[in-house]
Amino acid sequence: RGVQNAIGRNIKLNLNDGKNVRRMSSLKVTETEKGKKFVPFTDMVSSRRAEARRSIVVQVQSSQSFKELHAYCSSVGTVKQMLHYTVGVEPMNFIVVEFASEKDVTSILDKSSYVEDSQIIPVHSQFLWFRASNRKLPKLKQSKTAILNAENGNNNLTAAEIVDLLKKCDSVSDQMKQLYDFTKLNDLGTRLRFLTACQVEDAVRGMFPSAKAFPFGSSVNGFGKMECDLDLVLRLSDEKVKSDARLMFHCKALVGSERSASQRNMEAMGDLLQLFLPGCSHVRRILQARVPIIKYHQQLTDVECDLSMSNMSGVHMSDFLYIMGSIDDRVRPLIFTIRKWACEIGLTNSSPGRWITNFSLTLLVLAFLQKPPHSPPILPSLNNLVKLADSTDHYMTEDGINCTFLRNINKLKKPAGNKESLESLLKEFFEFYSHFDFTSKAVCLNEPVAITKPEHCAMYIVNPLERGLNVSKNVGLEELDRFKVEARNAAWLLESQEHKTENWGLLSIFENKRKSNNLFNFAFPNKQARLMEVSTLFENEAAPVEFKNESVKK
Ligand code: CTP
Ligand code: MG
Repeated sequence: RGVQNAIGRNIKLNLNDGKNVRRMSSLKVTETEKGKKFVPFTDMVSSRRAEARRSIVVQVQSSQSFKELHAYCSSVGTVKQMLHYTVGVEPMNFIVVEFASEKDVTSILDKSSYVEDSQIIPVHSQFLWFRASNRKLPKLKQSKTAILNAENGNNNLTAAEIVDLLKKCDSVSDQMKQLYDFTKLNDLGTRLRFLTACQVEDAVRGMFPSAKAFPFGSSVNGFGKMECDLDLVLRLSDEKVKSDARLMFHCKALVGSERSASQRNMEAMGDLLQLFLPGCSHVRRILQARVPIIKYHQQLTDVECDLSMSNMSGVHMSDFLYIMGSIDDRVRPLIFTIRKWACEIGLTNSSPGRWITNFSLTLLVLAFLQKPPHSPPILPSLNNLVKLADSTDHYMTEDGINCTFLRNINKLKKPAGNKESLESLLKEFFEFYSHFDFTSKAVCLNEPVAITKPEHCAMYIVNPLERGLNVSKNVGLEELDRFKVEARNAAWLLESQEHKTENWGLLSIFENKRKSNNLFNFAFPNKQARLMEVSTLFENEAAPVEFKNESVKK
């Protein structure tokens, strides 16, 4: 995790003034959300893909190598910009070189070579290292330890720095904005994710020239933080069927069911990543899941990846979330705060289980913003966006999932008039869900109201694009109870602060974990027992604060 924050504090090499290597201050917001023109999701993705296609990643001795590298690259093509980042505590240095055109990349790759070594697999890719004229740079093999060590390394925007930043804010709303500005995925993080996608595409391009690896999830939906994972869906063909074609490609038929064929293809992809692609390590095949995935770590960009080869619904879902985040400036800071809160107090967990996921939490926030108590609502329902869709918005996945909804919100008459502060929205969110009737109601983003739960389970969030599916099916009753208890606690903590204490505002709700963990450990050494107790206590409607005192007494 530390590694990726190192990426956050990147150095942008200023090519206009070669002598002046400028370290970009991590405590300076470089772009503002406000007043930014809305770029439709597909345009944003296309432009990021094109940017990645005209870029290479070069491992260098140090950031000082940039001049020499710049001179070399400029002798082959036109360099647009260079971005430096490090991976590891004993940092390995990399420079992303963005050229003016994809042709420049082709030229530079044509001039590139392999070391003479029978022990290497001669793979062509956009990941290179810069050989000094008289001595060689350490090969990746030798640097492996540095990468691994780096995983526990020191961040530049440390937790302490974030705490300091939040302490100095004027209001909770200000804290929420700062948290968002300083932890969201930055430009370099996005570039590295698209470059990671290019590598997968290139790996299969010989057989599948129109293959595309689409990033989706938090890397592109506007809710990603610096160290977020990269969700990727690889589509082997992006071509439209040519009905007038006379010569047809000979193709093999799928053997067995579609699922078993897809699992075997994924298996082969896993081997490809593991055996041939530079930087891809820790390859794990999770093929029995509803959507089979390959997990791996790309060491050169320091990105954790989840690769699937299923349908495009995840990409359309990301488009939907991106749109929702773009409609109102308050949406993203609110979601970042709630995701951070859930992570800090241990409601979410990076490994899969019975806990609520970031995706479910995101949908809970969006649903809350679509409905009362806000009058007027801040976000439209999905049905509203479906009604406004025009012919360019029609999408149907090959397995029949209708992903039609308005894509360009410039055409949307925004729900106006709600001027609530971020702070009051945060409090209302906690209040809203601590009282939400999860027993009989399902959270639904398609309609502007909660609907009756179609089947028995602790928490039901209707998948907006596949309405028959429950996004939060994994959530256990104990975890739901804990979510409600913690939401009540957070609401209470925010309401009850009249004066600024040392850890005020967001800090008070984030540090709750330590307190409650101590309480839980003290009262319930066994986790299962603790969870049962929490739900029993909650059924008795004990106030959260009293509940905590109760636990201590026990
Ligand atoms: N997704 C979905 N239906 C689900 C789960 C996930 O459509 N039941 C899609 C969503 O587009 C989601 C993406 O898959 O954003 C990736 O899922 P996940 O990685 O779990 O969530 P992220 O939003 O990427 O959040 P995180 O930062 O925790 O990875
Ligand atoms: Mg993700």
